[in-house]
Amino acid sequence: MKSEHIETALIGAGRTKRYTQGAVNPVTQRASSLVFDSVAAKKHATANRAKGELFYGRRGTLTHFAFQEAMTELEGGAGCALYPCGAAAVSNAILSFVSAGDHVLVTGSAYEPTQDFCTHILGRMNVSTTYFDPLIGAAIGDLVQPNTRVVFLESPGSITMEVQDIPAIVQAVRAVNPEVVIMIDNTWAAGVLFKALDFGIDISIQAGTKYIIGHSDYMLGTAVANARCWDQLREYSYLMGQMVDADTAYMASRGLRTLGVRLKQHQQSSIAVAQWLAARPEVARVNHPALPGSKGHEFYQRDFSGCSGLFSFVLKQRLSDQQLADYLDNFRHFTMAYSWGGFESLILANQPEELAAIRPAGGIDFSGTLVRLHIGLENTEDLIDDLAAGFERINR
Ligand SMILES: Cc1ncc(COP(=O)(O)O)c(C=O)c1O
Repeated sequence: MKSEHIETALIGAGRTKRYTQGAVNPVTQRASSLVFDSVAAKKHATANRAKGELFYGRRGTLTHFAFQEAMTELEGGAGCALYPCGAAAVSNAILSFVSAGDHVLVTGSAYEPTQDFCTHILGRMNVSTTYFDPLIGAAIGDLVQPNTRVVFLESPGSITMEVQDIPAIVQAVRAVNPEVVIMIDNTWAAGVLFKALDFGIDISIQAGTKYIIGHSDYMLGTAVANARCWDQLREYSYLMGQMVDADTAYMASRGLRTLGVRLKQHQQSSIAVAQWLAARPEVARVNHPALPGSKGHEFYQRDFSGCSGLFSFVLKQRLSDQQLADYLDNFRHFTMAYSWGGFESLILANQPEELAAIRPAGGIDFSGTLVRLHIGLENTEDLIDDLAAGFERINR
């Protein structure tokens, strides 16, 4: 039988009878203690605690198992570890594989707290970090050292949205040392628009906070690992106390059911808004992976099955503080928040020097103010009207 389309897989994933118990959705099983009827039952649970037997709340309940199985199926891995937020997924995935004296390679376009974790916390543990240009491609092979344990990717990159040549990077790293653990922050693609493990990546990480939850009300991290890395990721994350509560796991499973249609709308609307912006005289560049001219667009076209709602654009001018406040404070539909992936549209801006400060490998190549948009599920005509009024404020 042909494999299911993603829309279909999202509906069925994790909804086995064991978890739904006759309902449509998995049960919400809240537990710290899970009780055993006999010494033999306790023994069985202990022996199978990593294989879906109820053992202790921190190992998960039926609610967690349903979501973990769904993610494992959707991302094509051997298992899925859960974390209380995306930042915890990133830091604990890396910590699960490094020792003092090791070296990690991290894309210079990584989410800023990922970089700070590597520089400051790994640094204190005598694990060194080298940041690389996100568009490095096969040349990454030259940066792999004998003590390189982890390569950390994020594609598209945070804020500046460069799509990486993942096959070239994976091949070059493996050619030098096949043991290196390659991870990706796959939040933008929601784990389904870019099937990281099919590209030879070992661990696909998501801030489930964004598209999986999808409604800006719960925080979650996920890390789906292949067979080579799953046992170590699972056990080390467990020892570091990583888990999420059952209600969040339930909401995450629920989010999966509408993820397909939400992503389709985010894609259609974000492309429409990006194309409109690209034709505006105030705009120097639109960084949207699906638009020709965006950095790594050719890799997006080759490797992704679609896009989500987050992108950025660069203005020709650097706005003054006053202009920026007037621009950002007066939108009707775009609100400001340090997040994305929900049903609502969001806006943030960065000055070029702020971005240069968080681009340790190569800086930036523009001088105007950068605006990041998350295009939500509103009607695009209303969003475009709002953005047009924003340009009027700038031009006044
Ligand atoms: C790309 C990316 N990764 C990870 C995170 C961290 O996720 P969380 O806020 O759930 O810790 C974020 C949050 O904005 C993000 O944008």
